Amino acid sequence: MLHNLNPTKTLAWKELDLHAHEMQQRHMKDLFAQDPDRFSNFSQQLEDVLVDYSKNILTQETLELLFRLAEDCGVKEATEKMFTGEIINGTEQRAVLHVALRNRDGKPILVDGQDVMPEVKEVLERMKAFVSRVHTSEHTGYSGKPLTQVVNIGIGGSDLGPVMVTEALKPYWIDGREVHFVSNIDGTHLAEVLKKVDPETTLFLVASKTFTTQETMTNARSARQWFLDQGGSQEDVAKHFVALSTNAEGVKDFGIAEENMFGFWDWVGGRYSLSSSIGLSIALTVGFDNFEGLLDGMHAMDRHFRQARLEENLPVKLALIGIWYTNFWGAETEAILPYDQYMHRFPAYFQQGNMESNGKSVDRDGEPIEDYETGPIIWGEPGTNGQHAFYQLIHQGTRLIPCDFIAPAVSHNPLGEHHAILLSNFFAQTEALMNGKTAAQVEAELRADGLSDERIAELVPFKVFDGNQPTNSLLVKKITPYTLGMLIALYEHKIFVQGVIWNIYSFDQWGVELGKQLAKAILPELGNDDKVKAHDSSTNGLINAYKKWR
Ligand code: F6P
Repeated sequence: MLHNLNPTKTLAWKELDLHAHEMQQRHMKDLFAQDPDRFSNFSQQLEDVLVDYSKNILTQETLELLFRLAEDCGVKEATEKMFTGEIINGTEQRAVLHVALRNRDGKPILVDGQDVMPEVKEVLERMKAFVSRVHTSEHTGYSGKPLTQVVNIGIGGSDLGPVMVTEALKPYWIDGREVHFVSNIDGTHLAEVLKKVDPETTLFLVASKTFTTQETMTNARSARQWFLDQGGSQEDVAKHFVALSTNAEGVKDFGIAEENMFGFWDWVGGRYSLSSSIGLSIALTVGFDNFEGLLDGMHAMDRHFRQARLEENLPVKLALIGIWYTNFWGAETEAILPYDQYMHRFPAYFQQGNMESNGKSVDRDGEPIEDYETGPIIWGEPGTNGQHAFYQLIHQGTRLIPCDFIAPAVSHNPLGEHHAILLSNFFAQTEALMNGKTAAQVEAELRADGLSDERIAELVPFKVFDGNQPTNSLLVKKITPYTLGMLIALYEHKIFVQGVIWNIYSFDQWGVELGKQLAKAILPELGNDDKVKAHDSSTNGLINAYKKWR
């Protein structure tokens, strides 16, 4: 179990509180002016990933206090407990072992005294053999045609990871292969995907840890019905439907044979499952070697996270910098801004990763958290689109929004000057957010443009940028399966460290249950034309209006 400690009771927290008041008087510009080596002092490279955290409102003293906070809150001990399969998901009484899925060094990992690695390897072997059979057309569709189209049916963690990775690794797609994703219960999602695929060449992956999720099971049943309506027979279902799940019984009840099920385990959280069999759509799309490349990259970051001292530990640093702004500066959100079109779903993926993990208000002792904030709101879009949409607020709004900028140095599409222009924006934005623009600079510019004194005086306040907006820059040599794996694990472990310090359970998600329960109660009420009276007046009113209009 993880220990239970209110982080505000540590000496480090109290000192950070005082220190934050001091730092609120400082401007990053001055920190750069005072330290010509600030970049080298506040950046770290791990293989092909360079993390520059120098454009933050912090000093060496800030970091030392933050490392002490991590130490006092037992981050190192908690990390070891995760890697050694202790039950650290207290409310669900489970180990948390997504790191075992990409444990590439063959060392045993025990859960309840049992090494889980043989099972992990066995599923990976089966996935590999299956991918090969599909790619070589040993396993074909019912009419003998190759299965070139994959439809992954899943939601949340059984969707977002595979979507994000297949999009991020599009340059690695095997020629002639397609992948589609259906997640939303809105029939439009399935209907639109089914318009694009051919039943004879389509492999459906029903991806659900629990195999009970309403959206996924409904979509899977409708997909199966479509398949039958299009000419497939009951026996053909076996060739075209595969299950990725921990629930063997549920899979059997659905009618998918055991040999078409790829399992995983209750110690894999849904939002941490892309390196389990939930990643089959990835392997089918980019090939098993590239899927393994992804696992290798994740493992490299896992090793770093487990072995590096707090002071040299990238996930720990990013976590602590996030805590600095969330808990000592009142920041409410964090933006993730990939300057890579292929990574356009990376913010959405880590929106679930962060917000489902650390969106908690009860501590590990079951007590309400009243004296500090936990997980921030995560959002973001790819650059440069974001620049023309919401950056105005980051530059000149009233809120502090820490941002992570992520960019590859080498593009997969070196088209004329495009990549240089993209990267010039990547560099310029963090510089602008840090430096801002003073009234004197604005005035000089306007004077050079020939404006009158009166007009200059009117305009100056609107054109001033205070700057001092914190950013991390993650420059990656190239987005490959390996470096993407490193980035994913980096953010996963950042979330873990923050959850440990915030004294919450990061691996449950009870908050999603209530809505599900109420939807189940409401569904039968929609099946007739009777006036509904059982709810509050708003819910009754909306349901009755829907019944009138439908
Ligand atoms: O929304 C809650 C949740 O349980 C997520 O944590 C999970 O990723 C998603 O639903 C899908 O669950 P399953 O894989 O069991 O269908």
